[in-house]
Amino acid sequence: MYCTWNITESIVFLGGNDRRLPFFEGFYPVPHGMSYNAYLLKGEKTVLFDTVDHAVSELFFDNLAHELGERTLDFIIVHHMEPDHSATLKATIQKYPSARVICTPKAADMITQFTGLHLGDRLRTVADGESVTLGSHEFVFYTAPMVHWPEVMVTYDKAEKALFSADAFGTFGALDGALFADQYDFDTELLPEVRRYYCNIVGKYGPQVQALLKKTASLDLHLILPLHGPVYRGDFNRILEKYDRWSSFLPEEKGVTLAFASVYGNTACAAEILARKLADRSVKVAVFDVSVTHPSEIIASAFRYSHLVFASTTYNAGIFVKMEDLLRDLAAHSLRNRTVALVQNGSWAPTAGKQMKELLSALKGFEFIGDTLDIRSALRPEQLPALDALADAIKESIDQ
Ligand code: FEO
Repeated sequence: MYCTWNITESIVFLGGNDRRLPFFEGFYPVPHGMSYNAYLLKGEKTVLFDTVDHAVSELFFDNLAHELGERTLDFIIVHHMEPDHSATLKATIQKYPSARVICTPKAADMITQFTGLHLGDRLRTVADGESVTLGSHEFVFYTAPMVHWPEVMVTYDKAEKALFSADAFGTFGALDGALFADQYDFDTELLPEVRRYYCNIVGKYGPQVQALLKKTASLDLHLILPLHGPVYRGDFNRILEKYDRWSSFLPEEKGVTLAFASVYGNTACAAEILARKLADRSVKVAVFDVSVTHPSEIIASAFRYSHLVFASTTYNAGIFVKMEDLLRDLAAHSLRNRTVALVQNGSWAPTAGKQMKELLSALKGFEFIGDTLDIRSALRPEQLPALDALADAIKESIDQ
């Protein structure tokens, strides 16, 4: 059975939701599911924009057949070859043998790599800024390498003033009946998962996202159609402002992401006391136990706030395993421009602080506040002034 949405008179949504997926890309928890978007333009020519993940393939093919009716599929524009969008491409190409494929040269290589197909005359590769006119629609293609893979491009449909944006402006989470972003409360219903998606999936590639934002800045936009999550129409300021900030590695707000690793609760106790001292100084703090919270949440918080505090027990003569995972993940995402304070614990040979500092020192624009606070087994009352001093130093840095 089909379930499509009309976006304009000629653009239709063909995608679907997977609410049973535990981990996107095998790693990211998606408790609110995931949407895989594909679009069909029904103009003088029929043009399919991407396909979908295997999870929603039956719905996708029903949707496509329903919307095509007696017509054939003329073109498939492939923006991104990651299988959450291309898993059903091979079957689509085979089911509609007269459809031609438009994509970047790198995507063409990946089509062969993933599907084994050699498309020959059915393939049209396009370069950055090239345009193709199909009926009354002129499409302009902009390459967007590393947003999120190297073969990615986006397409601007001049007639509809619509930007098919690939992964850009996407989100974790299924669509709750409503297709358009303005049908949700941006701050509470969209932003947390839009942020977590951006920071973790695309966040490493800030310069490339900046390049895409600049390429598309002058476009007259009525619609942004991403491959995940809701369609944006009319008001793009909020999402564009967030993308500009995240991709510039600038924090959204002053505040602290405080992540701790604690085996028996003593490091946790010190972290909680520090959090309270910061809150008493009117500093916004988000506290995470790395053994409990998925690193994608903490990385999103690190992109959000200006300051970071990491408190770790020493474990196997190094950083506690979950904290090390987090910090390596953070380094892999190449976050920049943050101010960091460190707390270490160790009962006989504390080394976590030194190793955390070494790991984070490789990141551009990372600065450290003071010396690492050193705990031996458990915080002692005589160390409370040291925690006060650390809270003061963080507060002073935030107020600068
Ligand atoms: Fe939604 Fe990079 O694929």
